[in-house]
Amino acid sequence: MTNTEWWRTAVVYQIYIRSFADSDGDGIGDINGIRNRLGYLRSLGVDAIWITPWYPSPLLDGGYDVSDYRNINELFGSLDEAATLIEEAHDRGIRVIIDLVPNHTSWDHEWFREAIASAKGSRARSRYHFAKGKGWRGRRPPTNWQSVFGGSTWERLSDGAWYLHIFDKSQPDLNWENEEVQAEFDEIIRFWLDRGVDGLRIDVAHGMIKDPGFPDIRDRSAMLDSINAEDHPFWDRPGIHDINRRWRAVLDEYDDRMMVAEAWVNSDRLRDYLRPDEYHQSFNFDLLSAPWDADEFAAAIERAVTNAEVVGASPTWVLSNHDVMRHVTRYALPEGADWRRWPVTGPHDILDEELGRRRARSAVMITLALPGSAYLYQGEELGLPEVWDLPEHVLDDPTWERTSHEERGRDGCRVPVPWTTDGPSLGFGEGDAWLPQPPGFALLAVARQADAPESMLAHYRRLLARRRDWLLGDQSVVIEVDDQVLTISRESGPRCVVNMGDQPVSLPSGVVVEASEAIDGTLPPDCAVWLATGE
Ligand code: NOJ
Repeated sequence: MTNTEWWRTAVVYQIYIRSFADSDGDGIGDINGIRNRLGYLRSLGVDAIWITPWYPSPLLDGGYDVSDYRNINELFGSLDEAATLIEEAHDRGIRVIIDLVPNHTSWDHEWFREAIASAKGSRARSRYHFAKGKGWRGRRPPTNWQSVFGGSTWERLSDGAWYLHIFDKSQPDLNWENEEVQAEFDEIIRFWLDRGVDGLRIDVAHGMIKDPGFPDIRDRSAMLDSINAEDHPFWDRPGIHDINRRWRAVLDEYDDRMMVAEAWVNSDRLRDYLRPDEYHQSFNFDLLSAPWDADEFAAAIERAVTNAEVVGASPTWVLSNHDVMRHVTRYALPEGADWRRWPVTGPHDILDEELGRRRARSAVMITLALPGSAYLYQGEELGLPEVWDLPEHVLDDPTWERTSHEERGRDGCRVPVPWTTDGPSLGFGEGDAWLPQPPGFALLAVARQADAPESMLAHYRRLLARRRDWLLGDQSVVIEVDDQVLTISRESGPRCVVNMGDQPVSLPSGVVVEASEAIDGTLPPDCAVWLATGE
């Protein structure tokens, strides 16, 4: 497949592999499940898929705890099946992006096993971050750093040494100052590019370099704030850019391959990750984080477009992923509610999921009308909501244990996809799914939506088909806001108008080619239209 710089306009569908489709009835999604659904993805109209980590792993963080970077978890399939999937996807014109997790390994990785079995100061330990504790007999952790999933970032071994983990204790951080670590990842990248993958999504792309002095963080409120981090001991340190360049050089040995950064940093600093010899793309989380407000949306869009333009990159748009509250639910929260947390009982104050769904129908009209590429998260095309009432015994996200059951974690956005309206796991597989689907999921099943023209799925299909027809390249865009009405205009393609206020407004001139819902003369609140202009 050739089509240079295909990522600049691609629509990429994120597959959270455990929850997409289960081909062998063990309740866990797998590679053959994806193969069986390639026809669905083709008819949806996406250009690429991004598959979350599929490597051998104890799955203590959903596979982001990798024990062997050159193999496939047998729960998901085999290397041969992965090769077949890549081939079959390519045959259908779909590119394949895989997830690479370089910040940390699993504690089951042979390097970490070797490290804990080796002496202090050994070469094996130098691949990770080991440090002495503070206080009497070094019983206190080396720093006051707090893990993203709760608790200290340090864990103590029986010999008294502490190792660093920004995430779960089963995810020890690699030492990226170590040349052996660097060289190993060059080879891992080549291993997968040689097998035909088209791109890499780089996990925690802003976290690999640590301040070697291990200073305490004075301002506790800045502990986990990677967005506003300034001189933070583990987020967005300058040395990151050397790693970016090193990987880019490896990718440039091949044709048409890309890497996209998962870097939760301030958008102005994110721009540096997108310089011509660094990443091709980076997720832009500003829009995802923006409240339902025309000025906030416009500002997030303008920042992303400008920042990409300055360095010659293309912007990206994301509304949901496997780490955040699904946007149907997020858009139904009252103003000011904190969607970043997953309280034990769920928010009691969800406004109305129907409102969230209407806004979601409009939001995707915004992202698909913008220049650049869009990342869709499996199930958003069905309007799946966040699931709040998973029984406690099935909760799997490490956040649940590490916060002593104060936060439920991210499982609510990872519930398996409903394909049919009945069956043990609504067509996900032959057996019960690893996370149970709530009864409401049957109403949102693919089979129910496929032939219903008003469904979310039909809406996504229509929008993607039209976007494809327009062959939208990188072009300038004009964003205007007038009293909570957001207008996005491009040289070619649709003009998108969204009413984000609470009163109906009159419909602008132009032929309505798509609407988020049936409209009649006016543009109601939370509704969007695509207008054909200049025709
Ligand atoms: C970001 C991934 O998206 C998330 O799921 C994971 O828990 C962390 N990185 C740690 O790898």
